[in-house]
Amino acid sequence: MPAPALVESPANQFAADISAGLQKAGQKELPSKYLYDTLGSKLFEVISELPEYGLTRADERLLRAYAHEIMHHIPRDVMVCELGSGSGRKTRWILETLSRRRRLDYFPIEISATALAVCRRELSDIESVGIVGLEREYLDGLLEVAARRRDGQHILVLFLGSTIGNFSPPADANFLHEIRMILQPGDSLLLGTDLEKPIPQLIDAYQDALGVTAAFNLNLLARINRELDADFALEQFEHIAKFNAGTRGVEMHLRSKLRQTVAIRRANLVVTFEEGETIWTENSHKYSLAEVSRMVEAAGFRCQAQWIDREWPFAESLLVAE
Ligand code: TRP
Repeated sequence: MPAPALVESPANQFAADISAGLQKAGQKELPSKYLYDTLGSKLFEVISELPEYGLTRADERLLRAYAHEIMHHIPRDVMVCELGSGSGRKTRWILETLSRRRRLDYFPIEISATALAVCRRELSDIESVGIVGLEREYLDGLLEVAARRRDGQHILVLFLGSTIGNFSPPADANFLHEIRMILQPGDSLLLGTDLEKPIPQLIDAYQDALGVTAAFNLNLLARINRELDADFALEQFEHIAKFNAGTRGVEMHLRSKLRQTVAIRRANLVVTFEEGETIWTENSHKYSLAEVSRMVEAAGFRCQAQWIDREWPFAESLLVAE
């Protein structure tokens, strides 16, 4: 019998990705993009308010303080496109500043429909900004924005919050290069990167005292239970964050507290976990400034300007496509 042509639908893609990740030889893995369902997106909003997690606040401080300086580098006729807008909160400062000169369209690109809806609500009061949400993967969304470009229009891509660090090197430079290939010379990319800081501070940021990050990570298993009819016992897994000194990234895992077997019915899969075995769910790379320069240049961009938060080392780099 021919294979049924079902793999296109999101639920089946989810099942296929989960199945592949949990059957990997050696380290089991789950793709981090699946952390952001409705509940996960809300938990991430709470993470960004945690005292231990200074990243989002640093990003927002920089955007707020330097929106005018950023604007001076951007032509008036601009389409603003954001990869992974989340709630859109920190984008407000850029949009308000740019749209004072001339009306513009803003294209948030999100795989989370919930995040898109929140983003639209959060930013809808800004006059002179048209919001066109695209529920797509990043590069598909960017291709669509590029296809709508009118003659002479400039594209400004926002890639904030250090999501780039979730593509571990060298995938980070490769991803930036893919963005570059969709853009034209002269287009802009505003890139947020979280910088190196003391290891205990990093661990606290990803393993907060209230347990919100743990809930965020464990929600991935809860989501598999909900959507794929699985029977993960959440209390038999724990969230751990550890710094990998070799790759200079914080790794997030879900660790099985005992030997156990889990059935994921809609993926037709039964998986065994050994006691102490982990599922790797995310990597958050921490950059040096030299590393940021090397990465962006390798991807075909030139750094035009850069702003750094001293309170929580974090860099905002304004890049131009060469
Ligand atoms: N992009 C965020 C980061 O790397 C996402 C994040 C924060 C995250 N806390 C997490 C991802 C915990 C997985 C688990 O900082």
